Amino acid sequence: MATDTATIDRYGVMGHPVSHSRSPIIHRLFAAQTAQVLQYELLQVSPDKLEQAIRQFQRTGGRGLNITVPHKREVCRFVDQMSARARAAGATNTLTFQDGEIAGDNTDGIGLLRDLVVNLGVNLEGADVLILGAGGATRGIVSPLLEMQPKSLLIANRTLDKAQALVERFEDLGHVSACRFNAVPVAEPFDLIINATSAGFRGETPPYPQAAVSKKTFCYDLSYGFKPTPFSVWARENGAARSVMGWGMLVEQAAESFHIWRGVRPDTAPVLKQISITA
Ligand code: ATR
Repeated sequence: MATDTATIDRYGVMGHPVSHSRSPIIHRLFAAQTAQVLQYELLQVSPDKLEQAIRQFQRTGGRGLNITVPHKREVCRFVDQMSARARAAGATNTLTFQDGEIAGDNTDGIGLLRDLVVNLGVNLEGADVLILGAGGATRGIVSPLLEMQPKSLLIANRTLDKAQALVERFEDLGHVSACRFNAVPVAEPFDLIINATSAGFRGETPPYPQAAVSKKTFCYDLSYGFKPTPFSVWARENGAARSVMGWGMLVEQAAESFHIWRGVRPDTAPVLKQISITA
């Protein structure tokens, strides 16, 4: 029997630019694996059209949206019900449309934790953690990382003010501090370094703190690519124990969105394997 496209549940990802997004492929693989009938679209929307585009998607029967760069903070203005983790991050990446209302959630932090802890076996409890960068990506991951009770969490950023603003936002949740790249303490190498800067997208390698890496350090880049990112090259060259790109976080945050929307949790391992090797 042919499927009636008018009745297929619609989802999508809104961003600007968005053409590079792997979300449609990931969600289609999840849908096939879990026998869910849905469609998932790429929606290129400029910041000045964001509200209009969301309302239209809602009016025309859309069920859910992923929200990506640069809209994750702005979109919070249109959300009726924010989850605790979206409120903590001050950013939303998952919208659900139900009963005329918009629910907002943030699955980035849980996506990172699932990849680090479950897939990669990183022990965060009691760890010394360094985050490079203090932009939108960092806001989404600080609170979930602190929940894992690291010994310390240092946010190093080119612009000190932005890192300090994040410390003020999250200091009630755990031991978190801020500094410039060139002021990262060199006495004790870190257990985990997370690159949350957007420098790699521009092909740039900032003066990352070399002495922060040792052969015990696990380096994780929130960015990903089919070639090693500049940060992962830097990490290997500086003797890190392991250097991993953020493909796993990408798939895990998508799986959490899929679970919110469909009530089923896909098996992420085969999808991760497939998308990180296929262009
Ligand atoms: P946002 O995520 O808030 O939109 P962004 O401009 O994409 O911001 O930058 C994200 C992070 O990457 C910021 O911490 C930014 O540092 P600044 O706060 O100093 O701007 C960092 N970043 C981007 N390019 C960088 C570079 N070439 N060197 C160092 N840090 C860089």
